[in-house]
Amino acid sequence: MPKNTLTITDNRTGKLYEIPIENETIRATDLRQVKVKESDFGMMSYDPAFLNTASCKSSITYIDGDKGILEYRGYPIEQLAENCTFLEVAYLLLNGELPTKNEYEDWVQSVTQHTMIHENIKKFMDGYHHDAHPMGMLLGTVGALSTFYSDARNIQDTNSRKLQIIRLIAKMPTLAAFAYRHSVGFPYIYPNNDLNYSENFLNMLFGNTVKHIKHPTLAKALDVLFILHADHEQNCSTSAMRSIGSSQTDPFSSTSGAIAALYGPLHGGANESVLKMLEEIGTINNVPSFVKQVKEGKGEKKLMGFGHRVYKNYDPRAKIIKRLAEHVFDITGRNPLLDIALELERIALEDEYFIKRKLYPNVDFYSGLIYQAMGFPTSMFTVLFAIGRTPGWLSQWQELLSDSEQKIARPRQIYVGKTTREFVPFTKRN
Ligand code: SDX
Repeated sequence: MPKNTLTITDNRTGKLYEIPIENETIRATDLRQVKVKESDFGMMSYDPAFLNTASCKSSITYIDGDKGILEYRGYPIEQLAENCTFLEVAYLLLNGELPTKNEYEDWVQSVTQHTMIHENIKKFMDGYHHDAHPMGMLLGTVGALSTFYSDARNIQDTNSRKLQIIRLIAKMPTLAAFAYRHSVGFPYIYPNNDLNYSENFLNMLFGNTVKHIKHPTLAKALDVLFILHADHEQNCSTSAMRSIGSSQTDPFSSTSGAIAALYGPLHGGANESVLKMLEEIGTINNVPSFVKQVKEGKGEKKLMGFGHRVYKNYDPRAKIIKRLAEHVFDITGRNPLLDIALELERIALEDEYFIKRKLYPNVDFYSGLIYQAMGFPTSMFTVLFAIGRTPGWLSQWQELLSDSEQKIARPRQIYVGKTTREFVPFTKRN
């Protein structure tokens, strides 16, 4: 019976080391025994950007990047998007099982009761500049929630954790809507608890000012988009959530950090960048020249909404969003930029540059077209991503706190700087 170990020969010393293999991985700390001198610190692994490093064990989300598979707690994303509401999926991510009807009704009632925000939050929402980016406003106000709920610091208390989780999932749409209303100079619209989660959000955003916005298809489409964004294992913002949470700070502060990570154009900010890219291309005729510029690497130009660290196949979420777009456009009218996006995809999927690098549309490639058709400005796109991802961030945070192997995150480094040297006074510095 072959042993489940790795045998390493250190050719510097001729010593052999037998390292246990568990879950197709070795523990990096098992390398520390590899030394030349007994006084050595021991060997580390070096993995910038964590391309090949598992930071945790998780039972929340499974991705098979080569097959384009995404499952939340074992359920295929396609089935959840088809059959669930966003709050039902949030419950699944947080609790590991789909809720019974009574559990679901209690859960929805709890979230609904917490949609209001403290009136003082309006005061610093008003303090943002008139053209403040809503993501900047969101990360600031979510962090500020930690000052309104001091009990959130009791992160070891199960009931306190559950209450903060409900508060955050409930208040994200309210904060997002208030940030939008501030950015357009409109009065805030308060939560209406007679509406469901996505209907309430659309009402706080647009009231009756946007055509079709009360059409049930649009609220349902938004709910599905939230489901598709709900979790995605150890992506950049979730890793930030876990790293910050590992210091045992409150969940509002950790989520603020996750929002900051999501803001970046290589991560959640990509949906906003896709729309800017499509608008820059302008017409289908310009697509070939744009693709040529990307391939030539001109000005670091990337095909935004394409490529993924894990998916080396079509992102399953992008397939669902592409189908969803047609339902939304039946109500709102077809977004003319869709034709440019479809042509861009057609050309890219036939081009050796993209095929060789396994670059396919990701979740951000088509989502912005739906958001724009529903009346959202591009600056709100990543905010919508953040609302959807909140249950995922909180599920991962919760899992971190209950994992006995986890402790405060503190990576090592390879020091390549100056060796020890004497201080030089001003008079001797050239
Ligand atoms: C999200 O991690 C997650 O799960 C994230 C996410 C989630 O749900 O949380 O799925 C959400 O963030 C989706 C990704 C959104 N970002 C974008 O669409 C931005 C554009 N995409 C790229 O920046 C890039 O594809 C990343 C950041 C998504 C992934 O980058 P990697 O894994 O670090 O890959 P890489 O940059 O090393 O690229 C490998 C090669 C390079 O070419 P060579 O140096 O080998 O010649 O592919 C090229 C890259 O230049 N490449 C692209 C490209 N993405 C990669 N070339 C053109 N356009 C692109 N979009």
